[in-house]
Amino acid sequence: MGSITFLEHNGAKHIVEIESGKSLMQTALDGGIPGIDGDCGGECACGTCHLIVEVGYINIVGSASGEELQMLELTPDRTDNSRLACQVIASDDMDGMIVQLPEFQM
Ligand code: FES
Repeated sequence: MGSITFLEHNGAKHIVEIESGKSLMQTALDGGIPGIDGDCGGECACGTCHLIVEVGYINIVGSASGEELQMLELTPDRTDNSRLACQVIASDDMDGMIVQLPEFQM
């Protein structure tokens, strides 16, 4: 149990309950979070699920794979803490985490 906050570029917050084992992309879609489209269905092939992980949680979330990094290279607003939400699996360790939604996706 626990929650993750999706933070829009305009400051709007969306707090969702963690469901361990579910991707953050699916979590966002199920929660009606704007800015996460997930056009490829979670295949790491579209880049429409980009989010920026809060610095203090990057070790818990982990780093992007090579394939994910290649997709992120094409994504505007990319930062060192960028991840594709379809490649991040929620866990209870992420309780309290804030992830930012890039301005480009809004
Ligand atoms: S849903 Fe397409 S890259 Fe994540």
